[in-house]
Amino acid sequence: MKKLAAGNWKMNGNTAALAEVQALLAAHPAPACDMLLCPPATLVAQMAAQAAGSALAVGGQDCHPKTSGAHTGDISAAMLADAGASYVILGHSERRADHGETDALVRAKAEAAIAAGLIAIVCLGETEGQRDAGDTLAVIGAQLDGSVPETATAVTLVIAYEPVWAIGTGRTPTLAQIAEVHAFLRVRLLARIGAEARGVRLLYGGSVKPSNATEIFAVPDVDGALVGGASLKAADFGAIVAALA
Ligand code: PGA
Repeated sequence: MKKLAAGNWKMNGNTAALAEVQALLAAHPAPACDMLLCPPATLVAQMAAQAAGSALAVGGQDCHPKTSGAHTGDISAAMLADAGASYVILGHSERRADHGETDALVRAKAEAAIAAGLIAIVCLGETEGQRDAGDTLAVIGAQLDGSVPETATAVTLVIAYEPVWAIGTGRTPTLAQIAEVHAFLRVRLLARIGAEARGVRLLYGGSVKPSNATEIFAVPDVDGALVGGASLKAADFGAIVAALA
């Protein structure tokens, strides 16, 4: 299994930010892991053109479950693929919170993404209140069962475990807490999609930065990272890519 360093630019970056991509490619032309950036939709086509023939894959941050139609403001998975994307992040906690996305909707989006030839990165994670109440594994298990299509494979699916309270806060779970959740995810995924689960990359996300990447990547069943803030600068993201070697 090749590990994956995935960057999520969120609603950050205009065309000037593509200079960071140039710097990243110059510093890491042949990384040991798979390398992915998911810029805002407005930059997908330009970044994909910039990354053509390189080790960098480009992804979207969301897609609509339908292939086309009267859905003002939305983008289909096929449109992302046409723009040069090969991955799409789905069910990020910010979309679940800001747009009320349910597990069923995330699953429908993942099915649409896979049908369009994209790799679906399905995000899961507990809130701080849920962790404090001792509900972390129950919450994550229910999200996985509800959000992951049963037909997903090691090739078409990536899971990102992102505790909501660790996103953008500088706080991270203990390594033991990450290990507990990732081991749980592997077993739950085996029950959901069968033996393919062994090859699915399980990413950790939430305040990953160069200074904590190495210890997080040493945790069993952590197969990469989904990185927000630290993916905006080539030097930081490059250091995380290098830590995944
Ligand atoms: P962060 O975001 O690295 O800025 O905490 C991670 C994410 O939301 O994917």
